[in-house]
Amino acid sequence: MTRTTITRRSLGALLAAGLLASGLTACGNSDTGDSASGDGKIVLGFSQVGAESGWRTANTTSIKEAAAEAGIELKFDDAQQKQENQIKAIRNYIQQKVDVIAFSPVVESGWDTVLKEAKDAKIPVILTDRAVDSADKSLYKTFIGSDFVKEGRLAGEWLVKEKQAATGPVNIVELQGTTGSAPANDRKKGFAEAIGANPNLKVVASQSGDFTRAGGKQVMEQFLKANPKIDVLFAHNDDMGLGALEAITAAGKVPGKDITIITIDAVKDGMQALADGKFNFIAECSPLLGPQLMELVKKVKAGEEVPARVETEETTFTQEQAKAALPTRKY
Ligand code: AHR
Repeated sequence: MTRTTITRRSLGALLAAGLLASGLTACGNSDTGDSASGDGKIVLGFSQVGAESGWRTANTTSIKEAAAEAGIELKFDDAQQKQENQIKAIRNYIQQKVDVIAFSPVVESGWDTVLKEAKDAKIPVILTDRAVDSADKSLYKTFIGSDFVKEGRLAGEWLVKEKQAATGPVNIVELQGTTGSAPANDRKKGFAEAIGANPNLKVVASQSGDFTRAGGKQVMEQFLKANPKIDVLFAHNDDMGLGALEAITAAGKVPGKDITIITIDAVKDGMQALADGKFNFIAECSPLLGPQLMELVKKVKAGEEVPARVETEETTFTQEQAKAALPTRKY
């Protein structure tokens, strides 16, 4: 399997291109029209997970701007975090005979039937952001996105170092992402593997907050009621961590001090919380997948070979690093 990474420099150039395109109108809706573009443009049908987080909003913007910049006609559908809506959107795109279908699967399982329908209709499929667990890899051309296991591992490794002097139990609560989604499964796995290095570190409660602020707040309230001693919160994204801040403050505790908070994403609001000392560490997950996705769309449409896996390059942030990065943070 070939593996490609986005370098900082190329990402900067791609971003600049995306910004130049921001004055252009973006795209249409999924269910308009019943055939591919009549003006020779490539038609891309894209099924987005939803609008559950700051990350997702930035991802949608990146895709719309990059499509406009690349001269690709985009049919866009927001599945509102429901798999059945994504399957319906993909079937619509097949009926409309789009050139390429791309989607970010809300959960990992249950895609084989609809992917087979796309394959039978000879419409290439690209997975973006999240993977599927299909055994048949011929059902899609490539997968572009982050290594979620690595993100969880980086979060856990930072905590192991941070708590290396601990002599007694360190109680961790975990806010998981959407149940059954690749980032929730993989981040949980990577984090658990890493904290295994220190037997004092124990996950005492772990529940889904569905990647939303409201979910993060609500589940954190329950955690705080049920667990008298919480030392660490690991939230699978910034938004749940931001929701949890409200619950922690309402419980009379100081976020970032009484409870160490680690999140994933590094969107602006999360970075602000980190710079303000309310979060302690963030593992980055880049939403800026649009420009690379459009390159892949052009290639698969042209019948060119593409790498089976395109992995996004990412970093991590401490409080000091967040302060330095915030002024130029684009999303
Ligand atoms: O799949 C990427 C994840 O989905 C992001 O971490 C999260 O914020 C989003 O909702």
